[in-house]
Order: sequence, then C-alpha cells, then structure tokens
Amino acid sequence: MKYFLLAGLLLPAAGRAAAPAPLSARLDKVGLTFTLGADGRPGYAVTYGAKPVVTLSRLGLAFADGKGFDGPMALTGSEVTDVDDSWQPVWGEVKTIRNHYRQLRVHLRQAAAPGRLLDVVFRVFGDGVGFRYEVPAQPNLAYFTVQDELTEFNMAGDHRAFWIPGDYDSNEYAYTTSRLSAVNTTPIAAIQEKAPATRVQTPLMLKSADGLYINIHEAALVNYPALYLNVDTGNFHLTSQLVPDATGTGAKAYLQAPEHTPWRTIVVSDQATEVLASKLILNLNEPSKLADTGWIRPQKFVGVWWEMQTGRATWNYADTSNIKLAGTNWNKLKTNGRHGATTANVKRYIDFAARHHIAGVLVEGWNVGWEDWANNWKEDVFDFVTPYPDFDVDALQAYAAGKGVQLIMHHETSSSVANYERRQDAAYRFMQAHGYHAVKTGYVGRIIPRGEHHDGQMMVNHYVRTARQTADHQLMVDMHEAVRPTGLHRTYPNWLACEAARGNEFNAFSEGNPPEHETILPFTRLMGGPMDYTPGIFRLQGYNAAVPTRRVHTTLAKQLALYVTMYSPLQMAADLPENYEQHLDAFQFIEDVPVDWDDTRIVAAEPGDYLTVVRRAKGTGAWYLGSITDENARQQPVKLDFLDPGRRYEATVYADGPGADWQKNPAAYRITRQVVRRNATLQLQLAPGGGAAVSFKPLPQ
Ligand code: NOJ
Ligand code: CA
Repeated sequence: MKYFLLAGLLLPAAGRAAAPAPLSARLDKVGLTFTLGADGRPGYAVTYGAKPVVTLSRLGLAFADGKGFDGPMALTGSEVTDVDDSWQPVWGEVKTIRNHYRQLRVHLRQAAAPGRLLDVVFRVFGDGVGFRYEVPAQPNLAYFTVQDELTEFNMAGDHRAFWIPGDYDSNEYAYTTSRLSAVNTTPIAAIQEKAPATRVQTPLMLKSADGLYINIHEAALVNYPALYLNVDTGNFHLTSQLVPDATGTGAKAYLQAPEHTPWRTIVVSDQATEVLASKLILNLNEPSKLADTGWIRPQKFVGVWWEMQTGRATWNYADTSNIKLAGTNWNKLKTNGRHGATTANVKRYIDFAARHHIAGVLVEGWNVGWEDWANNWKEDVFDFVTPYPDFDVDALQAYAAGKGVQLIMHHETSSSVANYERRQDAAYRFMQAHGYHAVKTGYVGRIIPRGEHHDGQMMVNHYVRTARQTADHQLMVDMHEAVRPTGLHRTYPNWLACEAARGNEFNAFSEGNPPEHETILPFTRLMGGPMDYTPGIFRLQGYNAAVPTRRVHTTLAKQLALYVTMYSPLQMAADLPENYEQHLDAFQFIEDVPVDWDDTRIVAAEPGDYLTVVRRAKGTGAWYLGSITDENARQQPVKLDFLDPGRRYEATVYADGPGADWQKNPAAYRITRQVVRRNATLQLQLAPGGGAAVSFKPLPQ
C-alpha cells in the first residue's frame, strides 16, 4: 500500500495564487486527473489509453443555505492509496471478485468564509472510475441540505446513447438509441413528470465513434436521491440532476456531517464484453452487513401471476369498488369467479413446482384490498395480513411444506408507503408465522407521502430500510417499481432482485418489448444489479383474450436463453403450468438452469444487437450458455475452451427450429444432444428475435 501527502499546502494566497498542478492517478489504461481551475473550481477528466472518456468536467455541491461547495475552493492536501484484494459474494455471477484500484483522496476547503471542508475521493480501476463527495465532521458544518449536485460528465463526442427518459417515478420504458445530440424524450408520452426533453436515466450506455463503450451510473445509493442526467445536446455535456423532495423548494437531500454521497461511476472499455464483466459497481459497495447469510437461497419460482397480467384472472376477489379497508366484512363480498389466488389454483402451481424442482410459488392477489388498489392515491389500501375468503393461508402453508415448496409473499403497496411502513413489522411477522421466506414488494402509482417521488431521498431510504427490516426477519426481498439498483445487494444479500425496468410483463398488456430490448438491458439496468425480468413465456401469442394481438417479441428458444443472459439469483418461470406442459422437453432447460454461479464469461456482446454468455454452475462442473439476438438473424460461433481440459460433456442445445422467427414462427425450436470437449466450436443459428440455450453436463471420466 502506498501513501503520500502532497508536499506543502496549496492554499492560494488571498485567492490569487496560480492554480495547483493537476493530480493524477492511473491504473492500466484508465487515467484520472483532478484539477483546480484558476477560478478555484474543482474538475476532473478520465482517459482510456490515449482516448478521452470524460473531458474536463465540473465537480461541486450546492447547498440550500447558499454556502455549499459551488464556489472557489483551495486544495489543502491529497493522498494516494493502492488496494488489491478480493472477496466472495454470498451469491453471484462469479465465486471470487477482485477489488483492485488506486485511490486519490483530495482535500478541499472553501476559499471564502466559512471555509467548509470537502473531500473528493476517486477510485481508479482497470475498467473505470468511481468518485464521491465526502463531507467530513467539522466545526462549521453539521446539518445541510443539498440543493443541487453540480457533477458533470462531459463527453468527447456525439456518442451513440441507449437511453430512457428521466421520469422521477418510473423506469419502465423501452430504450431509444440515438446520438447524444438527438436525445429527445418528448415523444415518449407516458412520462409522468414535466421533465425537460433531454433528461435521461442512468445507467446510461454510450458508444463512441472511436470504439469506446462508456457506462455512467452510481454505486451504493443510500440516504440520497437517485442521479439523473441532463443532456446538453449541443456540446454533449451531461449534468447531474437529483430527484427533488415534496417540499417544492427544489431541495434534494437532507444530510448531517460526516456524510458522503453515493459513488458516481464511469465504466469504460474498448470491449463491450468487458463492460458487462465489470465488478466496479459491486466493489464500490460495502461488504455484507448481515452476519448470518446461510438462510439466503437463490431460487427459481412460478406464480399465480401471468394469468392476471394477461387478463384471464383477477387480483381482486369481488368486482366492486369504493371499499374501505377498515369496516369491510370481506366474507360478505361475492367473488367474481375469476379470482386467481384461490386455494385450489395455488395448489395447482405448488404441484407443478414440486414436480419440476422449482423452489418457490409466488401468489399475488391473496390479500384483501385489491378492489380499488390503484389510481386513487388512497392511503389505507392493504393491511398485508388478511387473506381473501377463498385463500386458506394455513392449509396452503401445510400443503406447500408437504411438497417441499415455499410460498412467496406479495406486498403490493400501491405506493402508499406511509401505510406500508406502519404495517411492515406485523406483515413480516405474519410471513414468518406462515412459513414464507421471501417477499415481492411493489410500488404502483403515486407515492404517499404525497409529492414524494419513487427515486427521491425519502424513498431511497425506504427501500434500504426495507432490505434491512426483511433481513431482521430472515426474509429475502424482490422489489418492483423501486429505484434502479446500485450494487446494494452486496451489502444486503437478502435483497435478491428488483424489477426497476421494463419487464417481460409488458408483453402481456401492452405493445411489448422490441426484440432488441434484452440485448440492451444488461448494458443499462443490470449494471446495478439483478432484475426480476420474469422470462420463460412459452405461449408466445394469443394469451390475452381481450387483445389478441398481444405477443412476446422473441422466439421460444430466446425465452430460455434469457435465464443465462439476464443474470438474477431469483428467476421466475413466468408462464402458466398448462403452457409448460405442452413443451416439457424445452422446460427441462428451465428446470436445470441454476441461479447461482462460480464463473461467468461474456463470449460476445454488442448493445442493441446480441449477447452470448456462459456460466459455470455453483458447486458443480456444469456450464450453461445463453445466446440472444435482436430482430436480425445471426450466426454465433462459440469456442468451448471454457470447458475443463480432458473432460467430455453432454451438450443439450435448445435452438431456434427451422423457419423460426419471432414474428412468423416464434414457437419453432429444436433440441439436439451431442458429446463435446473443449476443443470444439458450436455454431449457433439465431433466428430473427431468436436465441439459443445450451447445458453442458460433465460426463463420467
Ligand atoms: C407491477 C408489478 O411489476 C407486477 O409484477 C405486479 O404483478 C403488479 N404490479 C401488481 O402488483
Ligand atoms: Ca412493474
């Protein structure tokens, strides 16, 4: 470990001294430079080899009291430290993660009174840079309100960008691919908040004309609002935009020194595959805060779910509205006859799960309140402990246990977070009393406390508290409609997944996700953590009786490939048991594919076009491959040099069948088996909107 202090203090005499020399740190090809301009303003730049990644960009924080770090600063010292160690995640894509960086810590002091202190800490990795602001304990600063963050990410050119609009409340958009100069969110009608037409969300994926892949996001988002980016389409400058709170004053974060912001992350490589392999964001998160993690189980699950998404069944028990949570005798309501979460229907899913070694069964619509759950901005919607009359929680607990299956709880909050927070403890005790070990939460609609946003500081704190509180009850959690992840699953490994993007469900009830969607998500949403995408739809069209044109925009084989390309420790087999029964030969891949891995290799990748990934199952020698393409057919060669030397494997290839095409013939698939060794190359033929999945099972020596 190296350590040195900058010689002398570089305080400008009477604010007029020459600017101090830039400070630099480099690791492999990534270079970072910190500068204090002649005007006393701090800035930074990032390079990759000789190429600019971020050109000189401003740093700073503006406070509500007008005395923040947005004016001239003086450099009072700096330190460089080197770290090279490794750690083992509780679950993940690889068994061991190397954490190798050079840190530059810069100490700054306001040039003018009151002379407040700020550190900027940069960590330079071989695949990018993370940096954050740290406000140390100091006499002149205790409580402060961040009015704006002034961080810029100035790009060197008019890069190709994969973006979604900067709505403070939803991230469930299809991606637009355009030059930075052409970012315009106006045509995206669903935007809930009157945002400028050039505000986008992170993770933002960029590709430069000179071949760099650049990803901008944040790590360890705690006690602070989410980072958005305003795009200056004229000069390709990206400027931070934090999510405001409900006061209407434009305040963003209420903090108390000592405190720090989340890390701002820039992942960069000249290989798209390296961006996907990056562990920079995880490395910038704190180690697990959970002492005992033995109870955490990555798993696959089925659920009473797709039938509601496609309109065949309902979450609500009765077809009525204007229900009051207190004072309603639910036993007196008359069922609509289409309620999904009935005891008998849940048993059907439990039976299917047990037959196919699927650990979990999610049940939505089990609890009272769904009659008027959405769109009323109503506070008391659910109590999370009262089942509908036709859902026998005790009988189902016993039935599931008898079959070796666990039910997964569902807590739709309808964004009445005030109500949920009052009831969380009782809800989690109810779960423990009834044998539940995992909960899917949801935040549909407008937040209560009214005026707060899904991605503001108050909600960010709610999600983190929920991760902690579920952990206290030894419960795993999967959050829908939450802020997009920033690697906090390292710190709270019971926080298995989030939705926080446009999932497969959009194919159920809307025009759906274009075939390129799943080739972009790993470069954007998944950079921060696993997604509950809910793959595995086998009946690819004709499932929505009300709107027959609804369809999945992939082939069946591509649905299988998603279990490998879309990493998550929690993977749903989202279709109905009866649709799987039609294709049990293909379902075998879902039954076999693990959700926890010892190793991962990104074989080929290009955002918006294609992705091929191989992973080695945790604790076994088996490998699994997923390969997907966008709307274009593709041939994908895969060298099998990841297999163990001297071993033979049975490779089962689940490929698009002859004539397969997501539009014309999505269900055509072909399953073939062959014995392979590591010197072989597989030639995968991917149909338009297609994919391939392969299992490699080691044969006895
Ligand atoms: C939206 C979630 O994403 C979905 O999975 C859930 O079924 C509905 N909300 C109802 O809670
Ligand atoms: Ca959703």
